[in-house]
Amino acid sequence: MVVEALSGARVVVTGAGGGIGAALARRFAAEGARVAVNDLDADAARATAAEIDAAVVPGDASGVVPAARTALGGTIDVFCANAGVGTGGGPEADEDAWELAWDVNVMSHVRAARDLLPEWLERGSGRFVSTVSAAGLLTMIGAAPYSVTKHGALAFAEWLSLTYRHRGVRAHAVCPQGVRTAMLSTTGPAGDLVLAPTAIEPEDVADAVIEGIAAERFLILPHPEVAGYYAARAAEPERWLGGMNKLQRQYEQQLAAAEERPADAAGAERGGRA
Ligand SMILES: NC(=O)c1ccc[n+]([C@@H]2O[C@H](COP(=O)([O-])OP(=O)(O)OC[C@H]3O[C@@H](n4cnc5c(N)ncnc54)[C@H](O)[C@@H]3O)[C@@H](O)[C@H]2O)c1
Repeated sequence: MVVEALSGARVVVTGAGGGIGAALARRFAAEGARVAVNDLDADAARATAAEIDAAVVPGDASGVVPAARTALGGTIDVFCANAGVGTGGGPEADEDAWELAWDVNVMSHVRAARDLLPEWLERGSGRFVSTVSAAGLLTMIGAAPYSVTKHGALAFAEWLSLTYRHRGVRAHAVCPQGVRTAMLSTTGPAGDLVLAPTAIEPEDVADAVIEGIAAERFLILPHPEVAGYYAARAAEPERWLGGMNKLQRQYEQQLAAAEERPADAAGAERGGRA
């Protein structure tokens, strides 16, 4: 699908050195947009940009707007706040880990919006596409910093949407479950349990984003079943928490099994050699 408004649009994608961001950058380029590719990993950003003849704005997603605006010839039409970190653990995760999750998953969006809004409100148009996660609507087993900060990202995108939509500024929250990227491969037993079975490709997420923009839909759900889980969580929180606790217990069993596995494997190997 080619969305008319995207042809010639100036689009920034953060965290586009790989995964969902790279797929978004490629897809926006295919729609005829002029794209600026950002990533903390400068080589990865350059590699994506080279594929699609895009501008490169390497570095931290926080504060990328001025450089991206210059690279795109003075204006930005669509900003994809996609860079994210998949910080796991619970309250015991150290302060730095919580701080990083907060900084990348939430504050980089806030800082970008702060830099974008004056221009967008003055001209009465602009589009903020936030790669949140189904964890922002629901939760992610074994990953409190990720879940909490993704809820924050969702809240911020919602706030942008309801505050500025009558002034021409649109926001979208993209909330996939598992997507086959480098991040998914770091999620361990929790990811194996809840994400891997229904994981989709980054290109599927990019397709959903283009469709969501064409339909002017705030909530973009590349896994449509998430709408039902979200409704169930709101309607029957006790039941939903009980169901999620069942998953937590399965996760704990998987962790215990994984801890036993190396000893078994070593035993099997010893047996094999004997
Ligand atoms: N993979 C999944 O299952 C999944 C599911 C739901 C949501 N998401 C979200 O999608 C987004 C993209 O993740 P992905 O799965 O493509 O992971 P990924 O690890 O493949 O890509 C993330 C990219 O972001 C970059 N990055 C990290 N911190 C940055 C920073 N401060 N500034 C600029 N770039 C930075 C990394 O270098 C990397 O290239 C994230 O926000 C993630 O939370 C992923």
